[in-house]
Order: sequence, then C-alpha cells, then structure tokens
Amino acid sequence: MSAKKEIVLSGIRPTGFVHLGNYFGAIRNWVNMQEEFDCYYCVVDWHSLTTHPNTKELKENVLRLVSELIGSGLDPEKCVLYIQSDIPEIAELYLYLNMLAYTGELEKTTTFKDKVRMQPENVNSGLLTYPVLQAADILIHRAVKVPVGKDQEQHIEMTRNFAQRFNYRYGEVFPMPYAFNYGDDLIKIMSLDGSGKMSKSENQMNTLYLADDDDLIRKKIMKAKTDSGPTTPNSVKPDYIEGLFNLMNIVSEKEVTAKFEDDFNKCSIRYGDMKKQLAEDMVKFIAPVRSRTQAIRRDEKYMKQVMEHGASKARASAIATLQLVRDAIGLKYH
Ligand code: TRP
Repeated sequence: MSAKKEIVLSGIRPTGFVHLGNYFGAIRNWVNMQEEFDCYYCVVDWHSLTTHPNTKELKENVLRLVSELIGSGLDPEKCVLYIQSDIPEIAELYLYLNMLAYTGELEKTTTFKDKVRMQPENVNSGLLTYPVLQAADILIHRAVKVPVGKDQEQHIEMTRNFAQRFNYRYGEVFPMPYAFNYGDDLIKIMSLDGSGKMSKSENQMNTLYLADDDDLIRKKIMKAKTDSGPTTPNSVKPDYIEGLFNLMNIVSEKEVTAKFEDDFNKCSIRYGDMKKQLAEDMVKFIAPVRSRTQAIRRDEKYMKQVMEHGASKARASAIATLQLVRDAIGLKYH
C-alpha cells in the first residue's frame, strides 16, 4: 500500500448475523473503498461487551463475521482486516482520550441515551465511554475517512473534538477524521414489513441475512407485507411497497424493475408475481456470497492466517501512532 493514500477506518460489532442492511449500508462501501484508499476494517469485539457481556457466542460471532466480510468482497490482501482485541494499543489510547472526554458530553450522546433506555439494568461506564473507544479505533491509525451511516456521525464529531483537544494540549498528532460515503445517500434497506430499517434486533422473518438459505429467502420475501394494489394510477407507494421496489432496484435487472413500476402506475401490478421475481433475484444475489462465506469459515487455517496477518499490520500502525502519542504527552522517564 502506498504511503500517500488516505487512511480509512471503520468498525463493525460482532453481535449477530450480517443482514442486507449491513451489506448495502456499510460493507459494500468498504469493498469499494479498498481499491482507492489505505483501509483498516476492524471487528470491534470490545465494543460488543458494552451491550453483550455474555461471551458464550462471541467467538463464533467474530469468526462468522470475518468470513462474511471476506465472502462479501473484502480482500485481506487489499485492506487490513483485524480484530480490535488483538490490538492492545487501542486500549492505551482509549485511556489517554478518556482524560480529554467530559462526562457531560458523554452523557448527552444520543446512542448512550438510547442504550440507557434499552438496558437500564446495565448502564456500565463502558457504555458511557463507548464513543471514546470508537475515537481510539479511528485515531490509532490517524484515519481521516470513516465510512459510517448517519447514526454514527455524532461519534465522529466527538472523535474530532477529542483529537483537537489532544493536539491543542500536547501537539499536533492527529489529523481530523470525517464520516465518509460514496454517493449522496446510502441505500436504506427497509425491513420486509415496511416498519423501519432492516436491523439486527428486528423480527428475523422481516430481515434477510447473508446466511439465509435459498428457501428461507423465498419464504421471507413471499411473506413480505403487500396489499390489494393501487386503485388510482400513479399513486404514492406505501412504505412497505416502496421497500420491495428498493430491494428490486438493487438485485433485479433494470427492465424487470421498470416493468413492475409500470404495472404499479397502471394499477395492474400483481404483488405475488413481483415477489416471486424478487425472491429469485435475491437468491441469485445472496447464494454466491453465502457459499463463499461458508467455504472461508470452514478453512480454519486460512481464517487463522487472515486474522494474524491483519493483526500484525494493524499493530504496526498502532504502535507507530502510540509512540507519537507517548512522546507528545511526555511519558518518557528513562
Ligand atoms: N459504533 C459503530 C457501530 O455501532 C461501530 C464502530 C466501532 C465503529 N468503532 C468504530 C465505526 C470506528 C466506525 C469507526 O456501528
């Protein structure tokens, strides 16, 4: 990798199966960026401990996620793919950044307030300092581009604040990182009942996972919410119909989608036919990703090699930054 390329970092929590929302909202963007930038992609297992203290499934989740990322097109030779807990330097940087983060601003963070509402029985201080750990993930590689969705922009802004405070107090070490995405808008994937974004916590029947087998994909799509169809030409689509068209836009041929659009506008659409078509096109899309993923996951030797290779490249970068940080603070006594 050339030294002139801009540094990209992003992270993903190993808390469940990868679904289409993750794929089109994040991973596809990561795959595109690895061609152009110096990319670091991190499986953030420490972050997952803030909400998932039970680690019974952690290992399997981490390994599956690594295989799903590669199955989706991340190339461990083109990007640095690694696991957060393999890089102890992140924890040390987190410690320094914690001294520059005010409890008041942490308490005001939207994601913190949401999580307090969701898990009032476990408001641990890791949850409060979650954005500080995220800042450490980003700043440890002095990354400038952070591909994330809208919900993460506040964390990136906080990262800039911590970095600025560090630079002001101890000297310029960190460039300012910004949220970044290709295109104007990330494609939003609706859940199959049209009730919101496809997400990990949703009803599994309304979410399409990269691990779903062909029949399950068909079953989920055939059960997706529709109605008896429009009665006035060119009407506005209800959310759940819009969601199906969006999926079709992504996985089906242009002419196919155009035909159903036309049928909708003429009030002659048959949702059963549309869903059958969408189901087959979705199967064609997901099946190869799933089989690549399974083959990678089964190859324990390759898995181990990928994780070790990623850890060693990520550590080299982390160690270099931490040296600058320690020098800047003045932690050198002998
Ligand atoms: N907080 C992010 C999320 O919930 C995950 C994450 C952790 C991350 N560290 C990061 C994202 C660093 C971008 C950069 O999706």
